[in-house]
Amino acid sequence: MKDMSTMQYDTIVIGLGAAGVTAASTLATAGKKVLGLEAQDRIGGRVNTVPFGDGVVELGAEWIHGQYPSRVYDTAIKNNINVLSENVVLAVYQSDGTRSNHELVMELIKYCLALLKDTNIEEDSLGAYITRKLQEHLRETYPELLKDKDFLEEFLALMDLIVDNYKGSSSWNEASTTTNYKELEGDPHMSWHRNGYKTFFELLLNTYQGGPGLANLDIKLNTEVTNIVWPQQPSTPVEVTCKDGEVYRANNVIVTVSVGVLQERHMSLFTPPLPREKVNAINSLTMGLLDKIIISFDKPWWPLSHSFFVFLWKGEDKRKVAKEDFWTTKIFAASTHLGSGNTLTLWTSGDTAKWVETLPEEVVKRKSVELLQKFLGANVTIPEPTGMLRSTWYSNPYTRGSFAFDSVSSMKYPNSRADLGKPLLDSAGTPKVLFAGEALDLIHYSDVHGASESGYREAMRLLASST
Ligand SMILES: Cc1cc2nc3c(=O)[nH]c(=O)nc-3n(C[C@H](O)[C@H](O)[C@H](O)COP(=O)(O)OP(=O)(O)OC[C@H]3O[C@@H](n4cnc5c(N)ncnc54)[C@H](O)[C@@H]3O)c2cc1C
Ligand SMILES: *[C@@H]1O[C@H](CO)[C@@H](O)[C@H](O)[C@H]1NC(C)=O
Repeated sequence: MKDMSTMQYDTIVIGLGAAGVTAASTLATAGKKVLGLEAQDRIGGRVNTVPFGDGVVELGAEWIHGQYPSRVYDTAIKNNINVLSENVVLAVYQSDGTRSNHELVMELIKYCLALLKDTNIEEDSLGAYITRKLQEHLRETYPELLKDKDFLEEFLALMDLIVDNYKGSSSWNEASTTTNYKELEGDPHMSWHRNGYKTFFELLLNTYQGGPGLANLDIKLNTEVTNIVWPQQPSTPVEVTCKDGEVYRANNVIVTVSVGVLQERHMSLFTPPLPREKVNAINSLTMGLLDKIIISFDKPWWPLSHSFFVFLWKGEDKRKVAKEDFWTTKIFAASTHLGSGNTLTLWTSGDTAKWVETLPEEVVKRKSVELLQKFLGANVTIPEPTGMLRSTWYSNPYTRGSFAFDSVSSMKYPNSRADLGKPLLDSAGTPKVLFAGEALDLIHYSDVHGASESGYREAMRLLASST
């Protein structure tokens, strides 16, 4: 038996991604005794920096999406950590190896991307809306293109994939035109480059460059929480049971697991079960999926003047692709990154990403290189890759997806994020179970800065309610 007195905490934080680490470090710095429980063998959650190629790559979040006001950007600046603008530059390549139409296609992509910022739109889905607006636009500008059915179909397929990569959707018809998401001011693509996004967590936890950590914070990795008993009776601890059988007690807990994880296991995770309002909120949100296939080469063989090589198919080439390789037609681009100079990232989303997660590594690697050869290899022989890494955010039982996006179905329940973010109280009105995480920031969801903001919000709620 463990001595119970050594297991008593002010707060237990469940999950050590951006939300959990922000909450835990805020509370511990304010003098609270905090325990952080993380199921995986590392801190970071949907941020995962891995040494690869000639530097590091990010299997999860890559950029600081905007600078002002961002807890992520501020943390870098306050600690004199250099973050760099990625300067994202798109270039269009076609499946026949040519780059004809390049400027026209870029112009049309920009036209469509600008539509993502429209509000008050009649259509429900971005797919329907962008398709209609583009047709109107072409009628005025390039009417002859409307007759080029092959081009139009493939261009719309490309825009569909671009939207899916923003949202994590399977189709742009799933993505809602209405959204409460707000972009931050400043550069939307700031990169931790060779430091890696993991630096953010090291700075918050005071472990950067061998720092000693935070005195009031205990962290247990490889510790999956299986049940949370939350009491109604005042002054009774919350009891957290882990897969290894250990039980920890605290005045309150902050739950930061993803919406995907909550959807799968809220019934077993909470005793008593969550109130109906919470269950409805969980079930009405839509978890998206974004995955990366990262391939390393001896040295870069691609033009260094661009960062996103966007793939536009020709109908006749697409029709030749074998059925089992359909997923290669759903990769919208290969991109370069400041973290390593000799790797390329291929992007998949939604159901396609789910499918690719199940394919053997060797197949994914070989087919990815064939795809690169087709689009980028007209004037260069692409060398054998030296390695491949890929993310599996859906198969991972501790994430079950990438981020919760505004879908046509979820926007029918506009209060879900707010409802899920409300704490569970005891009968005296004291918060016992608090919720944080990417999905619960009301305007910066899906991003690391929103996740961090939500963790800070819940830490401050506890600090305000205790003296
Ligand atoms: C491929 C990809 C690219 C992205 N790109 C960007 C980007 O460029 N910029 C950006 O801002 N955002 C990006 N995001 C989104 C960003 O990564 C997330 O919004 C953010 O990291 C979520 O943080 P979180 O703390 O809410 O959740 P998480 O990071 O998921 O943290 C929750 C933690 O809980 C743990 N956990 C789960 N179940 C249990 C359990 N039962 N017991 C204990 N622990 C448990 C998990 O292991 C995890 O560590 C990207 C995401 C993906 C997947
Ligand atoms: C290959 O070179 C030709 C001739 O310079 C050029 O037209 C074409 O766009 C190039 N293809 C690629 C994929 O770079």
